[in-house]
Amino acid sequence: MALVEIDNLKTYFHKKNSIFHKMLDKGPLTVRAVDGISFAVDKKDTFALVGESGCGKTTVARSVLRLVEPDAGSIKFKGKDIYNFTKQEIKEFRRNAQLILQDPRSSLNPRLIVEELISEPFYIHGLVDNDFDLLNRVWDLLDTVGLSKRFSELFPHELSGGQARRVGIARALALKPEFIVCDEPTSGLDVSIMSAVLNLMQELQDKYDLTYLWISHNLQVVRHISNKIGVMYLGKLVELGNSEKIFSNPLHPYTKALFSSIHRVEDRKKNKREILPGEVPSPINPPKGCSFNPRCKYRMEICPKKEPQLEEESENQLVSCWLYNQP
Ligand SMILES: Nc1ncnc2c1ncn2[C@@H]1O[C@H](COP(=O)(O)OP(=O)(O)OP(=O)(O)O)[C@@H](O)[C@H]1O
Ligand code: SF4
Ligand SMILES: [Mg+2]
Repeated sequence: MALVEIDNLKTYFHKKNSIFHKMLDKGPLTVRAVDGISFAVDKKDTFALVGESGCGKTTVARSVLRLVEPDAGSIKFKGKDIYNFTKQEIKEFRRNAQLILQDPRSSLNPRLIVEELISEPFYIHGLVDNDFDLLNRVWDLLDTVGLSKRFSELFPHELSGGQARRVGIARALALKPEFIVCDEPTSGLDVSIMSAVLNLMQELQDKYDLTYLWISHNLQVVRHISNKIGVMYLGKLVELGNSEKIFSNPLHPYTKALFSSIHRVEDRKKNKREILPGEVPSPINPPKGCSFNPRCKYRMEICPKKEPQLEEESENQLVSCWLYNQP
């Protein structure tokens, strides 16, 4: 059984109509942020979600953590639908599934020192027996993420970007979770600090059998860290499967264009970066048929008429494109 199973997830945002919209009499505005995606994350996987800004990655993450309610589909954690959890199961899930965000300095309370920030999850979950034990646990967690005890006295603004990231990781680890959603965990860090944070997260994964849902724009990082990958475009998965396979042989035209930047870095002479024409269409009014069709250089007659489905093209590699699927 997979640790997390997502089946036909749809999460829409229903916006209040603007005056202009009402004048045009176009009906309610619905942002189809996530529009029918399915995938599974096994224990100890690092499952990466990639795609251009606005394609729905964070909305998938928020739905999986029960932070936003989906419109349709199901999300199972250890085989149970997270939206049918009992109160006790929700509490356990809040402990077991954690989030690491892009810049913890903006999400950490600036008035609390590190010791208080790392203690907070224990208080929230009623796990504090005595203050001395708690301080020892905080020091242990700081040690686990490579920070000395002296950091416990500092405020968030006194930390560097890398140190703040480590405090964010310590907080996420405090309650011994199995599953961690990492939304752009290394963005904004310079290369050496980023690789130190990545190494730490890999060591922690091995040590505590962690499972990561990893969201990143940095494809080099994703290639290095993930074993499975889902490529999103306008709220849908266009390619899904084994990372190594997809990075070495991307099939979907969108994946090819997206990955052309890293292939170019690897072999400047052979590969050209592919610049996609046009803008990403609005998720309020996505194109008919294959939603990538207005930007696709391989577009065929069928493409704007009928939507392709995600189908297995080879072992551990699924793609939704009429170049591979049978109409
Ligand atoms: N609370 C919200 N209300 C209305 N629309 C939203 C809300 N959150 C996200 N959206 C819209 O849903 C779509 C998907 O957004 P999301 O943040 O999931 O994308 P993303 O892939 O994480 O982008 P980025 O890479 O920039 O972080 C976007 O069009 C966004 O504007
Ligand atoms: S289905 Fe057609 S438009 Fe869509 S990616 Fe494939 S070839 Fe391009
Ligand atoms: Mg995002």
